[in-house]
Amino acid sequence: MIEQNAFDSERPRIRVRFTVNGQEIEQLIEPAETLAEVLRERLHLTGTKISCDMQVCGACTVLVDGAPVSACTYLAYEARDRYIMTIEGLSEPAGPLHPLQQAFIDENGFQCGFCTPGMIMAAKSLLDRQPDAGEADIISYMEGNLCRCTGYRPIVRAIQQAQRLLVEREADV
Ligand code: FES
Ligand code: FES
Repeated sequence: MIEQNAFDSERPRIRVRFTVNGQEIEQLIEPAETLAEVLRERLHLTGTKISCDMQVCGACTVLVDGAPVSACTYLAYEARDRYIMTIEGLSEPAGPLHPLQQAFIDENGFQCGFCTPGMIMAAKSLLDRQPDAGEADIISYMEGNLCRCTGYRPIVRAIQQAQRLLVEREADV
């Protein structure tokens, strides 16, 4: 449904509904607004980072219906009626960290941290699909996420540590 904003009759807006981290959201957005812009500027979910802004580095990775997308080039209206998960949705503010978050800390999987939310969301999509992913699978899957600081080995170790933590968590249930 395309509507005109009352404050700017020249610029059409689209009414979009989606779910972000479990919360139903309705927004009037411009057709060219990206999902990253909506998340960061309208919803103040600034954990999603923008670096290259051209679908090259993976810093802006979020999950849409469980699949990783580059939010910097994914148009927000394309997310209508879909479920979006950002880094803020991985754990409750007062709750324990998600195993991937804990493992990145334990294994020094970041330095400046700018790539980390995108790394973790991409890794989550991998482990959701392939919990027993081997080292080669991890390296291959994560190749679209770039890091200028770590040299990547700590990131691979962190994902492997998260696999172990997830198995322990399953065993505790
Ligand atoms: S900021 Fe989106 S891929 Fe780099
Ligand atoms: S930790 Fe700095 S870019 Fe990855």
